[in-house]
Amino acid sequence: MIGKREFSRRRRKVMAEMEPGSIAIVPSASIHTRNRDTEYRFRQDSDFYYLTGFDEPDAVAVLMPERKHGEFVLFCQERDPALELWTGYRQGPEGACKNYSADDAFPIGDIDEILPGLIEGRERVYYAMGRNADFDQQLMQWVNTIRNKARTGAQPPGEFLDLNYLLHELRLFKSAAEIRQMQAAADISVRAHKRAMKACKPGRFEYHLEAELIHEFMQAGCRHPAYESIVGSGKNACILHYTQNCDELVAGDLVLIDAGCEYGYYASDITRTFPVSGKFSKPQRALYDLVLKSQLAAIDATIAGRHWNEPHEACVRVLTLGLLELGLLKGKLETLLKKEAYKPFYMHRTGHWLGMDVHDVGDYRVGEEWRLLEPGMVLTVEPGLYIAPDNKKVDKQWRGIGIRIEDDVLVTKQGPQVLTKALPKKAADIEKMVGGRRK
Ligand code: GLY
Ligand code: MN
Ligand code: MN
Repeated sequence: MIGKREFSRRRRKVMAEMEPGSIAIVPSASIHTRNRDTEYRFRQDSDFYYLTGFDEPDAVAVLMPERKHGEFVLFCQERDPALELWTGYRQGPEGACKNYSADDAFPIGDIDEILPGLIEGRERVYYAMGRNADFDQQLMQWVNTIRNKARTGAQPPGEFLDLNYLLHELRLFKSAAEIRQMQAAADISVRAHKRAMKACKPGRFEYHLEAELIHEFMQAGCRHPAYESIVGSGKNACILHYTQNCDELVAGDLVLIDAGCEYGYYASDITRTFPVSGKFSKPQRALYDLVLKSQLAAIDATIAGRHWNEPHEACVRVLTLGLLELGLLKGKLETLLKKEAYKPFYMHRTGHWLGMDVHDVGDYRVGEEWRLLEPGMVLTVEPGLYIAPDNKKVDKQWRGIGIRIEDDVLVTKQGPQVLTKALPKKAADIEKMVGGRRK
């Protein structure tokens, strides 16, 4: 788990990067209605949580570097025993100071009176504009409150700056504690995938495998998957974000599971593809081995000092060559690569940053150039091949096969460290595991 000291270190780092005379304002997430009067389980906003560790809705964090009376102020829900009886314990301003190291804390209901006074006199406001329309409007009202008092000498801020850039650069580089947390999330997801593979049998349904995943996540204390689990069998595997998970598992088909837990606010993201009956057919195996080869090539290219796109380039080279050899593509390798001829079969990119959000924050380019990989970055490596069921340009044997293999990789000085390596991915090892054949 991330300790109090790390949260405070993060705030100090953000404040050290802020321009002099500035203030940063970060709202929490809100509760969302699912239907009528039931709600989705609350999940704190990642930026807000990263800076505070505070997991209640209706809160606003304020950072004011070099403020004498305290640099970190938290607005939060007040204690209210009658309401707490229904919806759970609240920290209240007192708990915010005592347990979350706020220098000062106030009830959220008092924010209109207090925040304009904190903003006043600060020249710059750091804020992530455009993410929360209601809060954008509220912020403008607070600024207008100050403008309206300009004749009495009040000084409104002159500049709004994007907080995302500062914060997301920090979030991109994982600390030792974050890496431990991500390894723990990866370990839980590995167990979940193994459990689903072992439970797979023809005649069961995709949602039965989803249930196995959720069981393992929840047993480990995860409150959410990091994203909706994808369990796609047969041609459903060709739908990249298939989440209906409602079809029967049919002998002879493959099933693609893309699922990962969120553990202590950190995501994991794993995909494995395996035969429902435990044995790959010849065409399935040929494509599977090709995807695996491309994935291993991409992982080998996930090296500090290389640029972001190198794993993708390594991957599409292997895939294109393989598709040529199997007769799914025709022509010259270099021409096909230039034309991106693989795209009808491989239409997504080879990975993304991974962290508190499954598609985590952080720039992929610096100016016009791909950014360089550096130790502490975590990304996924997830090539696939998806042969559309109605693709008349390829031989029948290939149609409707969808395969993806995805692992989570930490860039280190010593090379790529695969956080999810405990989950088998060689075809023969997978065949042994499906249907509970391996203890
Ligand atoms: N599960 C979404 C992804 O792999 O990016
Ligand atoms: Mn995934
Ligand atoms: Mn992914």
